[in-house]
Amino acid sequence: PRILILGAPGAGKGTQSAKIIEEFDVDHITTGDALRNNKEMDISDMDTEYDTPGEYMDQGELVPDEVVNAIVDEALSQADGFVLDGYPRNLEQAEELEGMTDLDLALYLEVGEEELVHRLTGRRMDPETGDIYHVEYNPPEDPEVEERLVQRDDDTEETVRERLSVFHENTEPVIEYYDEQGDLERVDGEQAPDEVWEDVKATIEDAV
Ligand code: AP5
Ligand code: ZN
Repeated sequence: PRILILGAPGAGKGTQSAKIIEEFDVDHITTGDALRNNKEMDISDMDTEYDTPGEYMDQGELVPDEVVNAIVDEALSQADGFVLDGYPRNLEQAEELEGMTDLDLALYLEVGEEELVHRLTGRRMDPETGDIYHVEYNPPEDPEVEERLVQRDDDTEETVRERLSVFHENTEPVIEYYDEQGDLERVDGEQAPDEVWEDVKATIEDAV
């Protein structure tokens, strides 16, 4: 299947994508991870405000479309089935995506603002595996893993607030756009991770 997963920062896109790729044997295409792996890439020749993706990311701003579109285009050309996470984030990107591929469904994980802030400020990452944890909701069992967990650079309270405002301004119109096309499936993302997964899995199975 070709799945788009939409949701605010902290809605659980990465958490659910990890389950989707295992169950449905598809690629995880995530612009956030791709950009984090290329934070220092020199993009100054693209006539952008800053010289690297990292400078946008650490302030919670969107990296320029030109950079992100190229990443997605390349990844999609190599994928058969996929779950696309973190793109499109504005209407220009949504239009660009239409020229790249067809989708089987767009899933929207709905989570309220207060819960989002709580999830993001408590998130921890395993730098060795990329696994996602939360200090309260999903702590690791292995003390060795716990020891090496790190916080993402953009999970500070100030940057989280900026990311949420970028979501409201730029990405909510994208959700409306898919909704108007009748392609949007909503899932209550505020449930426990396993319950969200049950709904996500059933929704995908219905659509393909
Ligand atoms: P990106 O990495 O995409 O970040 P994001 O959209 O802000 O989303 P997150 O990764 O923060 O949240 P998530 O929904 O994956 O939640 P997670 O599963 O981790 O983008 C980062 C930056 O890159 C952007 O700000 C921008 O600068 C740039 N960028 C990326 N794409 C771009 C694009 N297309 N255009 C331009 N710029 C782009 O879960 C969060 C926490 O909650 C975890 O701790 C988890 O354990 C916990 N949790 C998850 N589910 C549950 C649950 N059901 N109950 C309780 N806790 C839960
Ligand atoms: Zn993510």
